[in-house]
Amino acid sequence: MGGNLRSLRLPISTARMTLRIPEPSDAEAVYRALHDAKMGRFVRRPSPYRRLDADAFVRVTRRKMQKGEFLSLLGFERASSELRVAVGLHSIDWANRHAEIGYWVPRAHWGKGWATEAVTAVCQEAFRRLPIHRIEATVSSGNVASARVLAHVGFVKEGTRRESKLRGTSWCDSDLYGLLKREL
Ligand SMILES: CC(C)(COP(=O)(O)OP(=O)(O)OC[C@H]1O[C@@H](n2cnc3c(N)ncnc32)[C@H](O)[C@@H]1OP(=O)(O)O)[C@@H](O)C(=O)NCCC(=O)NCCS
Repeated sequence: MGGNLRSLRLPISTARMTLRIPEPSDAEAVYRALHDAKMGRFVRRPSPYRRLDADAFVRVTRRKMQKGEFLSLLGFERASSELRVAVGLHSIDWANRHAEIGYWVPRAHWGKGWATEAVTAVCQEAFRRLPIHRIEATVSSGNVASARVLAHVGFVKEGTRRESKLRGTSWCDSDLYGLLKREL
């Protein structure tokens, strides 16, 4: 793993999960989660989602991590060894010491605190081990569950990016959230 990401202590253990770098053998679980059409509204990914896309997800994220451009982790419940969450830091700006966080949870497991647990752990680890001062998230304005996750972790809503997303032929607003190192 390149760049400053080498300082992270991986895997990360949380109360219920182990968060680790994706392996090629994880592609099947990623495919099962992301080919679900109802995941589509708020996750940016090819549609229809094919098994090949999941293989590419693992391959590309591993390569970007080697270059220190991107952190992508999958969280597996220790009790079942099953995939519960994907969480990553992207748009890492080492000069200004900030990064953007993204995450998804397979639909069958929504509402059980997996995203909150993973986002908290990744933010803590990033602030502890990396020269990161600020983590931000951009959330489509109708994505109530994602806004709840960020509120639980301590993110502050900083504003609305008006008509910043094009969904089909409609413009949608998105909200910008930020969390500073001293706030976690
Ligand atoms: C957003 C997402 C990651 C949340 O994952 P999760 O593991 O279900 O999240 P958590 O269980 O930690 O918290 C979800 C919170 O939202 C609430 N919630 C869920 N759906 C809701 C809805 N439709 N309306 C209001 N609140 C909702 C839950 O009750 C919970 O809040 P609470 O703990 O105060 O009760 C998941 O819904 C998902 O993968 N969505 C599709 C991808 C996505 O939107 N990613 C984020 C892009 S910014």
